[in-house]
Amino acid sequence: MSNVIEIENLTKEFDGLVAVDHVTLNVKAGEVFGFLGPNGAGKTTITKMLCTILNPTSGSVKVCGYDVTRGRDSIRECIGIVFQDSCIDKFLTGRENLDFHGRIYHMGRKTRGERIAEVLNLMELKGKEDIKVSDLSGGMQRRFEVARGFMNHPEVLFLDEPTLGLDIQTRRNLWNHIRTLNEQEGITIILTTHYIEEADYLCHRVAIIDQGKIAVVDTPGKLKEVVGINLISLELASEGSDDLVGLLRGLDWIKEIEWRNSSLELNVEGGEERVLQLVELANEHGFVITAIDLRQPSLEDAFLHYTGREIREDEGSVKGLWKTRMAGRRK
Ligand SMILES: Nc1ncnc2c1ncn2[C@@H]1O[C@H](COP(=O)(O)OP(=O)(O)OP(=O)(O)O)[C@@H](O)[C@H]1O
Ligand SMILES: [Mg+2]
Repeated sequence: MSNVIEIENLTKEFDGLVAVDHVTLNVKAGEVFGFLGPNGAGKTTITKMLCTILNPTSGSVKVCGYDVTRGRDSIRECIGIVFQDSCIDKFLTGRENLDFHGRIYHMGRKTRGERIAEVLNLMELKGKEDIKVSDLSGGMQRRFEVARGFMNHPEVLFLDEPTLGLDIQTRRNLWNHIRTLNEQEGITIILTTHYIEEADYLCHRVAIIDQGKIAVVDTPGKLKEVVGINLISLELASEGSDDLVGLLRGLDWIKEIEWRNSSLELNVEGGEERVLQLVELANEHGFVITAIDLRQPSLEDAFLHYTGREIREDEGSVKGLWKTRMAGRRK
């Protein structure tokens, strides 16, 4: 498959602040590619450079085969953008917004009518097109923005934090529409997000970005695999916990042991049976486990693994697949 986006050593500085730091990667036609990173990581800055809104300080970028500095107009013809900050006209109806956008792209009346019908259908917005945007729910407003981004049949659609601030149900609904655009229309999608679940659900490949640097690029599955097969976190009553660590180091199915705050994080081969084994081992040696939690690695763990930092999430995390509180339990 051919590359729709080729980025080499892309760097952007703002008055000495390096917002994007020597980024190199390619995106293939038909991919949903995500930049996952916390606030201020440089996601919007990268997106703006790819969309020819900002000039790079150095490095090179090609989108749809055109160079961002020389082929600005050609690139703008072949892309669609949904900005992080909503910029739909709330005093107009959805249809009026779409129609206005079609005019900007010099579409004739007939084409505009056809495209509007098409995007309303794709985004399941039929029946809502004549309502003033300000009277629509936040999720529906966002859907109109995505619909607008698709009006010109772009090869690449950029979505900068498409579901920011939406509740989880509305977010899921929008994910399904984004998927439809990719699967039915074959459009390449570049998405930025700081929602772990969003990157996991939507993206074929994810670039983990932190402080302007790409830590790694891979499929969500591979990124999680690297972290380990399963994670067990243990909380112990303070006495003798170092001795238990010594014992655990002797077990070959425990691949990594690390203190995180007051809990012991174990990277283990195996699943629930390991929890029971650990409890038995602790009981045998008279250690007190106050809490134990087994979970499969999430992209959040991958983020921590690759950047050494936690990504802040304002939604419930996926952890806690199997959790037992055993406060006060003693041999
Ligand atoms: N026009 C600008 N002038 C100066 N600094 C800027 C400008 N735009 C962005 N920055 C800085 O560059 C860094 C990256 O910002 P950017 O908006 O790309 O991050 P982001 O990953 O999109 O964050 P968020 O998740 O909050 O949207 C930040 O430190 C930001 O303050
Ligand atoms: Mg941003």
